[in-house]
Amino acid sequence: MSDIDEYYIAVLRLVKEAGSIVREKINQPKDAMTKSCEVDLVTEWDQKVEKLLVEGISSKFPDHKFIGEEATSLGTKVELTDAPTWIIDPIDGTMNFVHGLPHTCISIALLINKTTEIGVVYNPILEQLFSARKGQGAFLNGAPIRVTGEKELRKALVMMEMGTSRDPEKMKIVLENANNLTPQVHGIRALGSAALNMCMVALGGADISFEFGIHAWDIAAGDIIVREAGGVCIDPAGGPFDVMSRRVLCASTMELAQELAKVLVQYYPEHD
Ligand code: IPD
Repeated sequence: MSDIDEYYIAVLRLVKEAGSIVREKINQPKDAMTKSCEVDLVTEWDQKVEKLLVEGISSKFPDHKFIGEEATSLGTKVELTDAPTWIIDPIDGTMNFVHGLPHTCISIALLINKTTEIGVVYNPILEQLFSARKGQGAFLNGAPIRVTGEKELRKALVMMEMGTSRDPEKMKIVLENANNLTPQVHGIRALGSAALNMCMVALGGADISFEFGIHAWDIAAGDIIVREAGGVCIDPAGGPFDVMSRRVLCASTMELAQELAKVLVQYYPEHD
């Protein structure tokens, strides 16, 4: 068994365990605290799930590093080195989790030498486990998944989000993009989780997904899942994807990705 096999088996077990916490708590009353603004939420369960994942991985692989949403919001510095690093969003779609909307997931990726080796996105409410390993394809609950292959924006179903920032400049650009795109595409959808939006592209349920202002933990796992499903992940201005740039555009084909990149109004948040 290779090292990566071992990491993969360990993370799947932990993600399942974390998922049972999310499943048990989603319909129970919970206190939501705010982070960067009044719609950027965190609950004690986000923190507990992150702790479970970090402690579980550390106990088996003590030299592994972490970039976790909740540790970062408590002041831990984000640092991506060549060391094996797990990028973790314990609950992506916290707003949905708080409201009981069943589109919420655990998103976790392993990068070694800054290359993504493993990505897992698990929605324990709808029992959807998306997974990918470098060079081995992408799967939903163990069955292979594939992007649609759509090349034309006018025929595309687009995933986008309003985001969790109330910054007026950011909101203006989000609304401008929604406004400009609506008459140019088949439709626009938002699940409320950047990771699940990306998995919809991998699954072939949507053709393209983009967002500005997300963080590495929202997109690291989705990136490898989309690429292993045959899609592409780029910067929304058309250049190479950078997991720390807080910008993402993934699509079923490069033609479609570049067509959208040309018409998007761009927003450049501060890097992670
Ligand atoms: C958020 C979700 C949301 C996206 C935000 C993210 P969180 O992650 O992915 O869909 O629009 O940009 O911050 O806070 O629920 O982990």
